[in-house]
Amino acid sequence: MARETWATRAGFILAAVGSAVGLGNIWRFPFITGQYGGSSFLITYLAFVALIGFPAILVEFVIGRRTDRNPVGALRELGSGAWSYAGWLFVVTGFIILSYYSVVAGWFLRYTLIGITEGFTLTDPAEAEALFGTVSTGLDTLLFHAVFMLCVIGIIAAGVRRGIELSVKVMVPAILVLLLGLAAYGFTLDGASAAYAYYLSPDFGTIAANWTEILPAAAGQAFFTLSLGMGVMITYASYLGEDRNLAADAGIIATLDTLVAVLVGFVVFPVLFSVGIEPGTGGPGAIFVSLTSAFAGIPGGRILGVVFFGMVGIAALSSAISILEVLVSYLIDEVGVARIPASAAVGVAVFLLGVPVTVDLIFLDLYDLLADGILLVLGSLLLALFVGWVIPDVGREELRKGIGDLGGLGDAWIWAVRIPIVIVVIVSLYLGIVDY
Ligand code: PFF
Ligand code: NA
Repeated sequence: MARETWATRAGFILAAVGSAVGLGNIWRFPFITGQYGGSSFLITYLAFVALIGFPAILVEFVIGRRTDRNPVGALRELGSGAWSYAGWLFVVTGFIILSYYSVVAGWFLRYTLIGITEGFTLTDPAEAEALFGTVSTGLDTLLFHAVFMLCVIGIIAAGVRRGIELSVKVMVPAILVLLLGLAAYGFTLDGASAAYAYYLSPDFGTIAANWTEILPAAAGQAFFTLSLGMGVMITYASYLGEDRNLAADAGIIATLDTLVAVLVGFVVFPVLFSVGIEPGTGGPGAIFVSLTSAFAGIPGGRILGVVFFGMVGIAALSSAISILEVLVSYLIDEVGVARIPASAAVGVAVFLLGVPVTVDLIFLDLYDLLADGILLVLGSLLLALFVGWVIPDVGREELRKGIGDLGGLGDAWIWAVRIPIVIVVIVSLYLGIVDY
C-alpha cells in the first residue's frame, strides 16, 4: 500500500500547529513564566523561539521530507554507524511524554466537567488545593486518562487524512477562536493593567541575575512548545510533497504557537491578578488551584472556566495525536504492522506507562524532568549536529525545493544549526544538571 500523504497544504500546517499548540502553551508556559519572573522569562523565551526553534523545525522538516520515513527509518537511511540508532531516542521520548501528557490532559477534562456540572465555587485556596488533590490522583484520574487515550487512539487509527487532517481542521480553528474570546474577556478584568505590567515590562536586571535558571528553562520550553526533539516534525513532514516551501511553513507554525502562548498570558495573568493571586508560586498544580479559586471569584467565572479548561483539552488532544503518530508510523514503516492494530497496541502501552502518574505526582516530575529536561533537548542536539555537520548539503538541497534560490538563507540556517543550537543545548543541559 502506498504511504499516506496530506491532502492539502493547510492540512499539514494545521496538523503541525495543532501539535505545537498544547499543554506546553497553556499549562506549562504560564507557570514557568510565573516562576521565572514574568517578562524576563518571556523575552528569553521569545529570543530562543526565533533563533533556535525556527531553525530546529527546519532540521526536522528536511529529514522527514527527504526520506518519507518515520524518525527511526529516516535516520537509518541518512546516517551511518551510531547515527542510524539515534531515532530510537525519539521512540523512548514519545512513550514517556505521551503517558504523562495524557494524564494531565485528563485533569483538564475533569475540570471542564466539574465546571459544567457544579461550577467553580471554591474561593478558599486550601479547598481548591484539596479539589486538585482529588482530580490529580486516584481511580477517577485513571479513568479520564483512559478516555483521553481512547480519543487519541481513535484519531490515529483513522489515518493521516481521515484522522489527523480532518480533526485538526476542526480543533485548531476552535482553539484560536476560543482563546481570542478569552483574551478579550481578560482585558475587561480589574487586574488587567497590573497583570500586563508584570507580564510585559522588560526586566533585564532579573535576566542578568538569574540567567543560570532562566536560560535552561527557556530553552527547554522553546523545544517542548514547538514539539521538537522527538521526531514529530520529521514524521509530519514525511507525509509532504516536494513542492512545499518548508521555511514559510515553519515560520507560520512558530509564529502561531508563540502567539498562542503569549495570548494565554493575557488570559491567565489578568484572571489571577484580579483576585490578588501572585503567579508562579509552586509547580504544576498551582495553575489549577489558583485558576479555580479565581474563577470562583470573578463575574462570569464559570463560563470562563469551562471554556478555558475545555479549550485546553482540545489543544492537548491535537498535540497528543502527533506523539502517537510518531510511534505508530514507526511500526507501520519498519515493522509492517497495520495502522489500526499499531495504534491500539501503542496506545495501550502508553496508557499503562501513565498509570504511576495517576497514583503519585512524583512520577509527573520524574517523567517531565527526564523527557523535557533531558531527552527532548538531547534529541534536538543530535538532530542539529547531524544535519549541521554530517549532511549539510542534503539539508540545503531539501530546503531549496519549493523555494528555488535560497540566497543567504541556506547559509544562515546551516550556521544557526551548527553553532547556536548546539551551544544553547549543551549549556542548558549542563546548567540543568548542575541545578538539579
Ligand atoms: N508542543 C506540545 C505543547 O506545547 O504542548 C507538546 C509536545 C508535543 C511536545 C509533541 C513534544 C512533542 F513531540
Ligand atoms: Na506548544
